[in-house]
Amino acid sequence: MNAPAARPVRPRRSVLAVPGSNPRFLEKAQGLDVDAVFLDLEDACAPSAKPGARHTVVKFLNEGDWGRKTRVVRVNDWSTEWTYRDVVTVVEGAGEHVDCLLLPKVRDAGQIGALDLLLSQIERAMGLPVGGIGIEAQIEDATGLVNVDAIAAASPRVETVVFGPADFMASLNMRSLVVGEQPPGYPADAYHYVLMRILMAARSNGVQAIDGPYLQIRNAEGFREVAGRSAALGFDGKWVLHPDQVAAANEVYSPAQEDYDHAELILDAYAYHTSEAGGARGAAMLGDEMIDEASRKMALVVAGKGRAAGLRRTTSFEPPRA
Ligand code: GLV
Ligand code: MG
Repeated sequence: MNAPAARPVRPRRSVLAVPGSNPRFLEKAQGLDVDAVFLDLEDACAPSAKPGARHTVVKFLNEGDWGRKTRVVRVNDWSTEWTYRDVVTVVEGAGEHVDCLLLPKVRDAGQIGALDLLLSQIERAMGLPVGGIGIEAQIEDATGLVNVDAIAAASPRVETVVFGPADFMASLNMRSLVVGEQPPGYPADAYHYVLMRILMAARSNGVQAIDGPYLQIRNAEGFREVAGRSAALGFDGKWVLHPDQVAAANEVYSPAQEDYDHAELILDAYAYHTSEAGGARGAAMLGDEMIDEASRKMALVVAGKGRAAGLRRTTSFEPPRA
């Protein structure tokens, strides 16, 4: 059996949420410097606005100029009566301009399987490459989190696992209404377990981990702090709800210049020291630091993110004089 083609790795440091029923926001979103957008047919669209929003989203996908942004549509979850028609209308109407569908409130692997099957039929019927449209799986309740490993592994279409903090807090009865902020009364990070759980599932299946929204859009410091936590753990990006959050997300989820330079130096130094000319050694010194194969792997991650973010080196490696 042929291995499925690897999915493209699309940067998603900043993922802009855009209500699918709002032409003004859909117009404005195209000019923002975000890595990805999702046009929302779910919670940002009132039930009565959903049928019209499907057609608005199709029009903006077909006619808009989204540049290099990853284009995603959030459909409604499978417990509603809207999902199938969201998928059929959007993919039949604009399938060649859709990179992924974002499925919210995913509770088990079967829900990903159902979307995968429906997508395959529409792709076949429309002459689109079968398997071309990816899936983003949003985890928003305890059941989804308990099943997250199977969800991330449910289809080769899965590109990301996304945290939905607002619905998640509601589903746990967490004692806070401020999405992304810590609930009062608990002295540690109330999200640590959830974020780590999602990250483990994502990494063990080779997909991206994306943090959800921070709703206090006027609190720039708060956004940076919350984003900084998931970025430090290893998350790839975060939703942004307002133009003021965009630059912060792009910065927080890119390595700092100093860390990027350091990672590139480790890669060069390791390549030199393991070569014949460098003595074919498996472990070597870079300044005061010992580096080995594990250092190379860590450096590859940081260097890869830095290159993807367009960082340029400001230092170069000099082999030590004999
Ligand atoms: C997003 O969908 C959330 O529930 O936080
Ligand atoms: Mg939600």
